[in-house]
Amino acid sequence: MTDFSGTVALVTGAASGIGAAITARLHAAGASVLLADLDADRLAAGPSGERLRTAVTDVTRAGDVEAACATAVEAFGGLDLVFNVAGAARLGTVLDGGEDDWRSTVDLVLGGTYLGIRYGGRAIRETGRGGAIVNISSLNAHVPLYGGSSYAAAKAGVEMLTKNAALELARHGIRVNAVLPGLVRTPLTTGWFDGGPIERDFTARILAGRPAEPDELAGPAVFLAGPDASYVNGTSLVVDGGWEITNYPDISAAVGA
Ligand SMILES: NC(=O)c1ccc[n+]([C@@H]2O[C@H](COP(=O)([O-])OP(=O)(O)OC[C@H]3O[C@@H](n4cnc5c(N)ncnc54)[C@H](O)[C@@H]3O)[C@@H](O)[C@H]2O)c1
Repeated sequence: MTDFSGTVALVTGAASGIGAAITARLHAAGASVLLADLDADRLAAGPSGERLRTAVTDVTRAGDVEAACATAVEAFGGLDLVFNVAGAARLGTVLDGGEDDWRSTVDLVLGGTYLGIRYGGRAIRETGRGGAIVNISSLNAHVPLYGGSSYAAAKAGVEMLTKNAALELARHGIRVNAVLPGLVRTPLTTGWFDGGPIERDFTARILAGRPAEPDELAGPAVFLAGPDASYVNGTSLVVDGGWEITNYPDISAAVGA
């Protein structure tokens, strides 16, 4: 495991799922971590101790995000890494879904990532050591989701925002990359894991034959932020157990293999 001693990280959405797994990995590797999340109760019930601080943060509010960055700098003496993980979707079809649902999902997923890059990037620039930003997009940036147009479009936006930010932040020694998870077993998706047809159809499409555990996303995300990815910038890492490549019909019988 890479040693992150002396590194300061801010993780949004840190109270649950993928964000909590990223936080655990970073902390175990020696980093100081500011856990930023909207859910005050979960933050309070989560990990605490040396090299950990929490900040109740709504990533759709610029003032909250700026304050979380300031808290990290004040508590740990600077900021090196930002993980923009917070996200959720309010589903609804293009024709009949709520316009407020559309706006709030885009504001959270795309707007929240923008604010994390903006204020986190400024704090990293101010710290002056260079650093890295990792944005959690989704396989839905490439694959549409029925009723999820706002989420899928916003996640596709996160992928391009990642490239654009990488272009602009490189002069400050900051790399920006994205992770595109497929299906991960977290509170966001628990409703789908009831042994019913949705779970069966999902797992049938995944070469791994199962959803990911949160730590299987944390590994790639932390890799992108660390020194082993020093030459990786402005790109996306699809972490989906081979889901995206299963769209073509299975012609193995015709090939005879
Ligand atoms: N679980 C999956 O299958 C999956 C797949 C692809 C992408 N993702 C993405 O991964 C990220 C993490 O998802 P997860 O599965 O760990 O979900 P999760 O629900 O377990 O965690 C999301 C966290 O974000 C926080 N959050 C929500 N709105 C917020 C806001 N406005 N400000 C601050 N925090 C807020 C929640 O309180 C929660 O702690 C999300 O961006 C999600 O879209 C998840």
